[in-house]
Amino acid sequence: MSQKTGAIGLDYLRETRYSRESLRAEPLVQYPRSPLYKTYPPETQRLPLPAVPASFRRDFWQCVKERRSQRDYLEQAINLEELAGLLWASQGITAVQHHFAFRAAPSAGALYPVETYVAVHRVEEVPPGIWHFQVPQFALELVTPGDFRRSLVLAGLNQQFLGTAAVVFIWTGILGRSLWKYRQRAVRYLFLDAGHICGNLHLAATALGLGCCPVAAFFDAEVEALVHAQADEEVAVYLAAVGKLAK
Ligand SMILES: Cc1cc2nc3c(=O)[nH]c(=O)nc-3n(C[C@H](O)[C@H](O)[C@H](O)COP(=O)(O)O)c2cc1C
Repeated sequence: MSQKTGAIGLDYLRETRYSRESLRAEPLVQYPRSPLYKTYPPETQRLPLPAVPASFRRDFWQCVKERRSQRDYLEQAINLEELAGLLWASQGITAVQHHFAFRAAPSAGALYPVETYVAVHRVEEVPPGIWHFQVPQFALELVTPGDFRRSLVLAGLNQQFLGTAAVVFIWTGILGRSLWKYRQRAVRYLFLDAGHICGNLHLAATALGLGCCPVAAFFDAEVEALVHAQADEEVAVYLAAVGKLAK
Protein backbone atom coordinates (compact mmCIF):
# COMPACT_ATOMS: atom_id res chain seq x y z
CA MET A 1 0.00 0.00 0.00
CA SER A 2 1.32 3.48 -0.88
CA GLN A 3 1.83 6.32 1.60
CA LYS A 4 -1.28 8.47 2.15
CA THR A 5 -1.06 12.05 0.87
CA GLY A 6 -4.14 13.33 2.73
CA ALA A 7 -5.79 14.30 -0.58
CA ILE A 8 -8.59 11.73 -0.85
CA GLY A 9 -8.83 11.75 -4.63
CA LEU A 10 -5.12 11.19 -5.07
CA ASP A 11 -5.05 8.57 -2.30
CA TYR A 12 -7.95 6.78 -3.94
CA LEU A 13 -6.19 6.70 -7.32
CA ARG A 14 -2.98 5.46 -5.74
CA GLU A 15 -4.65 2.81 -3.65
CA THR A 16 -6.68 1.43 -6.53
CA ARG A 17 -3.78 1.07 -8.98
CA TYR A 18 -3.44 -2.38 -10.42
CA SER A 19 -0.03 -3.96 -9.92
CA ARG A 20 1.11 -7.56 -10.33
CA GLU A 21 1.10 -7.89 -6.52
CA SER A 22 -2.35 -6.37 -5.96
CA LEU A 23 -3.89 -8.60 -8.64
CA ARG A 24 -2.44 -11.68 -6.95
CA ALA A 25 -3.58 -10.65 -3.44
CA GLU A 26 -6.63 -12.36 -1.96
CA PRO A 27 -9.67 -10.04 -1.75
CA LEU A 28 -10.39 -9.11 1.88
CA VAL A 29 -14.07 -8.25 1.60
CA GLN A 30 -16.89 -9.97 -0.28
CA TYR A 31 -19.44 -7.52 -1.66
CA PRO A 32 -23.01 -8.63 -2.35
CA ARG A 33 -24.04 -8.26 -5.99
CA SER A 34 -26.89 -5.86 -6.87
CA PRO A 35 -29.37 -6.74 -9.64
CA LEU A 36 -28.56 -5.60 -13.18
CA TYR A 37 -31.87 -3.77 -13.57
CA LYS A 38 -33.71 -1.54 -11.12
CA THR A 39 -37.35 -2.57 -10.87
CA TYR A 40 -40.49 -0.68 -9.87
CA PRO A 41 -43.82 -2.05 -8.59
CA PRO A 42 -46.23 -3.42 -11.26
CA GLU A 43 -48.70 -0.55 -10.68
CA THR A 44 -46.07 2.03 -11.79
CA GLN A 45 -47.22 4.11 -14.78
CA ARG A 46 -45.30 2.92 -17.87
CA LEU A 47 -44.83 4.50 -21.26
CA PRO A 48 -43.44 2.31 -24.06
CA LEU A 49 -40.92 4.09 -26.28
CA PRO A 50 -41.16 4.01 -30.09
CA ALA A 51 -38.47 2.44 -32.28
CA VAL A 52 -35.81 4.80 -33.57
CA PRO A 53 -36.75 5.95 -37.10
CA ALA A 54 -34.32 5.31 -39.98
CA SER A 55 -34.68 8.99 -40.93
CA PHE A 56 -32.47 9.85 -37.96
CA ARG A 57 -29.34 8.78 -39.88
CA ARG A 58 -26.78 11.55 -40.26
CA ASP A 59 -23.13 11.62 -41.16
CA PHE A 60 -21.07 10.56 -38.14
CA TRP A 61 -18.01 12.66 -39.02
CA GLN A 62 -20.12 15.77 -39.40
CA CYS A 63 -21.69 15.12 -35.97
CA VAL A 64 -18.27 14.81 -34.34
CA LYS A 65 -17.23 18.09 -35.96
CA GLU A 66 -20.45 19.92 -35.02
CA ARG A 67 -20.81 18.66 -31.43
CA ARG A 68 -20.59 21.54 -28.95
CA SER A 69 -21.90 22.09 -25.45
CA GLN A 70 -25.00 24.19 -26.10
CA ARG A 71 -26.91 25.97 -23.35
CA ASP A 72 -29.38 28.30 -25.15
CA TYR A 73 -32.58 26.41 -25.87
CA LEU A 74 -35.85 27.42 -27.48
CA GLU A 75 -39.07 27.05 -25.50
CA GLN A 76 -40.13 24.22 -27.78
CA ALA A 77 -40.84 20.60 -26.98
CA ILE A 78 -38.85 17.76 -28.45
CA ASN A 79 -40.93 14.81 -29.62
CA LEU A 80 -41.17 11.30 -28.22
CA GLU A 81 -39.21 9.78 -31.11
CA GLU A 82 -36.33 12.15 -30.42
CA LEU A 83 -36.35 11.24 -26.73
CA ALA A 84 -36.46 7.54 -27.63
CA GLY A 85 -33.51 8.05 -29.99
CA LEU A 86 -31.48 9.77 -27.26
CA LEU A 87 -32.22 7.00 -24.74
CA TRP A 88 -31.44 4.29 -27.26
CA ALA A 89 -28.15 5.87 -28.36
CA SER A 90 -27.01 6.34 -24.77
CA GLN A 91 -28.19 3.14 -23.03
CA GLY A 92 -30.37 1.09 -25.39
CA ILE A 93 -29.75 -2.63 -25.87
CA THR A 94 -28.04 -3.10 -29.23
CA ALA A 95 -27.12 -6.82 -29.17
CA VAL A 96 -27.85 -9.93 -27.12
CA GLN A 97 -25.08 -12.56 -27.10
CA HIS A 98 -24.34 -15.38 -24.64
CA HIS A 99 -26.93 -14.12 -22.12
CA PHE A 100 -25.43 -10.61 -22.14
CA ALA A 101 -27.63 -7.73 -23.27
CA PHE A 102 -25.03 -5.34 -24.64
CA ARG A 103 -25.84 -1.65 -24.73
CA ALA A 104 -25.00 1.27 -27.02
CA ALA A 105 -22.20 2.48 -24.74
CA PRO A 106 -19.42 0.22 -23.44
CA SER A 107 -19.34 -0.79 -19.76
CA ALA A 108 -16.53 -2.40 -17.76
CA GLY A 109 -17.33 -6.13 -17.54
CA ALA A 110 -20.77 -5.44 -19.12
CA LEU A 111 -22.01 -4.81 -15.56
CA TYR A 112 -23.80 -1.52 -16.37
CA PRO A 113 -23.70 0.24 -12.99
CA VAL A 114 -25.17 3.47 -14.43
CA GLU A 115 -28.92 4.04 -14.09
CA THR A 116 -30.71 6.56 -16.35
CA TYR A 117 -33.56 8.92 -15.43
CA VAL A 118 -35.01 11.82 -17.39
CA ALA A 119 -36.54 14.97 -15.95
CA VAL A 120 -39.10 15.73 -18.65
CA HIS A 121 -39.84 19.45 -18.93
CA ARG A 122 -41.22 19.61 -22.51
CA VAL A 123 -41.53 16.38 -24.48
CA GLU A 124 -44.60 15.76 -26.68
CA GLU A 125 -46.79 12.91 -25.38
CA VAL A 126 -44.83 12.63 -22.11
CA PRO A 127 -46.27 14.34 -19.02
CA PRO A 128 -43.68 16.40 -17.11
CA GLY A 129 -41.98 14.60 -14.26
CA ILE A 130 -39.06 12.41 -13.30
CA TRP A 131 -39.06 9.19 -15.32
CA HIS A 132 -36.84 6.13 -15.00
CA PHE A 133 -35.53 4.49 -18.17
CA GLN A 134 -36.38 0.79 -18.01
CA VAL A 135 -33.66 -0.59 -20.27
CA PRO A 136 -34.87 -4.17 -21.06
CA GLN A 137 -38.41 -3.05 -21.90
CA PHE A 138 -37.29 0.14 -23.68
CA ALA A 139 -39.88 2.07 -21.69
CA LEU A 140 -40.17 4.93 -19.24
CA GLU A 141 -41.47 4.45 -15.70
CA LEU A 142 -42.90 7.39 -13.81
CA VAL A 143 -41.01 8.10 -10.59
CA THR A 144 -42.73 11.41 -9.70
CA PRO A 145 -45.05 13.52 -11.87
CA GLY A 146 -44.66 17.31 -11.87
CA ASP A 147 -42.64 20.31 -12.92
CA PHE A 148 -39.04 19.91 -11.72
CA ARG A 149 -37.48 22.82 -13.63
CA ARG A 150 -36.81 24.93 -10.54
CA SER A 151 -35.62 21.97 -8.46
CA LEU A 152 -33.11 21.07 -11.16
CA VAL A 153 -31.80 24.61 -11.50
CA LEU A 154 -31.32 24.75 -7.72
CA ALA A 155 -29.77 21.28 -7.56
CA GLY A 156 -27.47 22.27 -10.45
CA LEU A 157 -25.84 25.22 -8.67
CA ASN A 158 -28.26 27.66 -10.30
CA GLN A 159 -27.37 26.75 -13.89
CA GLN A 160 -30.44 28.16 -15.62
CA PHE A 161 -30.27 25.97 -18.72
CA LEU A 162 -31.27 22.98 -16.56
CA GLY A 163 -34.68 24.67 -16.39
CA THR A 164 -34.96 25.85 -20.01
CA ALA A 165 -33.94 22.46 -21.47
CA ALA A 166 -36.68 20.22 -22.87
CA VAL A 167 -35.31 17.28 -20.92
CA VAL A 168 -32.50 16.68 -18.43
CA PHE A 169 -30.79 13.30 -18.30
CA ILE A 170 -29.86 12.22 -14.77
CA TRP A 171 -27.38 9.40 -14.33
CA THR A 172 -26.80 7.65 -11.02
CA GLY A 173 -24.45 4.82 -10.12
CA ILE A 174 -25.33 1.55 -8.40
CA LEU A 175 -21.89 0.41 -7.31
CA GLY A 176 -23.17 -2.90 -5.97
CA ARG A 177 -23.36 -4.06 -9.61
CA SER A 178 -19.61 -3.87 -10.03
CA LEU A 179 -17.94 -3.74 -6.57
CA TRP A 180 -18.12 -7.53 -6.26
CA LYS A 181 -15.87 -7.81 -9.32
CA TYR A 182 -13.66 -4.72 -9.40
CA ARG A 183 -13.71 -3.90 -5.66
CA GLN A 184 -12.67 -0.29 -4.90
CA ARG A 185 -11.50 0.18 -8.49
CA ALA A 186 -15.16 -0.06 -9.54
CA VAL A 187 -15.54 3.64 -8.74
CA ARG A 188 -13.07 4.52 -11.50
CA TYR A 189 -15.05 2.43 -13.97
CA LEU A 190 -18.40 3.89 -12.92
CA PHE A 191 -17.29 7.37 -14.00
CA LEU A 192 -15.68 6.08 -17.20
CA ASP A 193 -18.96 4.31 -18.06
CA ALA A 194 -20.90 7.53 -17.44
CA GLY A 195 -18.53 9.44 -19.73
CA HIS A 196 -19.16 6.98 -22.54
CA ILE A 197 -22.91 7.25 -22.05
CA CYS A 198 -22.91 11.03 -22.07
CA GLY A 199 -20.60 11.05 -25.10
CA ASN A 200 -23.09 8.94 -27.01
CA LEU A 201 -25.96 11.17 -25.89
CA HIS A 202 -24.11 14.30 -26.97
CA LEU A 203 -23.43 12.94 -30.46
CA ALA A 204 -26.99 11.62 -30.78
CA ALA A 205 -28.36 15.05 -29.82
CA THR A 206 -26.09 16.63 -32.45
CA ALA A 207 -27.34 14.12 -35.03
CA LEU A 208 -30.90 15.22 -34.23
CA GLY A 209 -30.01 18.92 -34.46
CA LEU A 210 -30.61 19.33 -30.70
CA GLY A 211 -28.45 21.16 -28.18
CA CYS A 212 -26.85 19.25 -25.31
CA CYS A 213 -24.65 20.17 -22.36
CA PRO A 214 -23.08 17.80 -19.82
CA VAL A 215 -23.25 18.93 -16.19
CA ALA A 216 -21.16 17.64 -13.32
CA ALA A 217 -21.63 20.65 -10.99
CA PHE A 218 -24.60 19.81 -8.79
CA PHE A 219 -25.60 19.19 -5.20
CA ASP A 220 -25.38 15.41 -5.05
CA ALA A 221 -27.97 14.85 -2.33
CA GLU A 222 -30.53 17.07 -4.10
CA VAL A 223 -30.12 15.15 -7.35
CA GLU A 224 -30.38 11.84 -5.48
CA ALA A 225 -33.59 13.04 -3.77
CA LEU A 226 -35.12 14.00 -7.15
CA VAL A 227 -34.81 10.45 -8.49
CA HIS A 228 -35.54 8.77 -5.14
CA ALA A 229 -32.14 7.10 -5.21
CA GLN A 230 -31.86 3.96 -3.10
CA ALA A 231 -30.21 4.93 0.20
CA ASP A 232 -26.61 3.68 0.62
CA GLU A 233 -26.69 2.06 -2.81
CA GLU A 234 -27.25 4.71 -5.48
CA VAL A 235 -25.29 7.93 -5.99
CA ALA A 236 -25.66 10.88 -8.36
CA VAL A 237 -23.02 10.78 -11.10
CA TYR A 238 -23.74 13.10 -14.03
CA LEU A 239 -26.44 15.22 -15.74
CA ALA A 240 -26.99 16.42 -19.30
CA ALA A 241 -29.46 19.01 -20.55
CA VAL A 242 -31.01 18.64 -24.02
CA GLY A 243 -33.15 21.17 -25.84
CA LYS A 244 -34.19 22.67 -29.17
CA LEU A 245 -31.79 25.12 -30.78
CA ALA A 246 -32.60 28.19 -32.84
CA LYS A 247 -31.99 27.30 -36.52
C1 LIG B 1 -17.25 16.11 -16.91
C2 LIG B 1 -17.83 17.37 -17.50
C3 LIG B 1 -18.54 18.22 -16.66
C4 LIG B 1 -19.13 19.38 -17.18
N1 LIG B 1 -19.90 20.17 -16.35
C5 LIG B 1 -20.45 21.28 -16.84
C6 LIG B 1 -21.29 22.08 -16.01
O1 LIG B 1 -21.54 21.79 -14.85
N2 LIG B 1 -21.84 23.21 -16.57
C7 LIG B 1 -21.62 23.56 -17.87
O2 LIG B 1 -22.15 24.58 -18.30
N3 LIG B 1 -20.83 22.80 -18.69
C8 LIG B 1 -20.26 21.68 -18.21
N4 LIG B 1 -19.50 20.89 -19.03
C9 LIG B 1 -19.30 21.26 -20.45
C10 LIG B 1 -17.90 21.86 -20.69
O3 LIG B 1 -17.87 23.17 -20.22
C11 LIG B 1 -17.58 21.78 -22.19
O4 LIG B 1 -17.53 20.43 -22.59
C12 LIG B 1 -16.24 22.46 -22.51
O5 LIG B 1 -16.34 23.84 -22.34
C13 LIG B 1 -15.78 22.17 -23.93
O6 LIG B 1 -16.73 22.63 -24.86
P1 LIG B 1 -17.43 21.67 -25.93
O7 LIG B 1 -18.18 20.60 -25.16
O8 LIG B 1 -18.38 22.56 -26.68
O9 LIG B 1 -16.38 21.06 -26.79
C14 LIG B 1 -18.95 19.71 -18.54
C15 LIG B 1 -18.23 18.84 -19.38
C16 LIG B 1 -17.70 17.67 -18.87
C17 LIG B 1 -16.97 16.73 -19.80
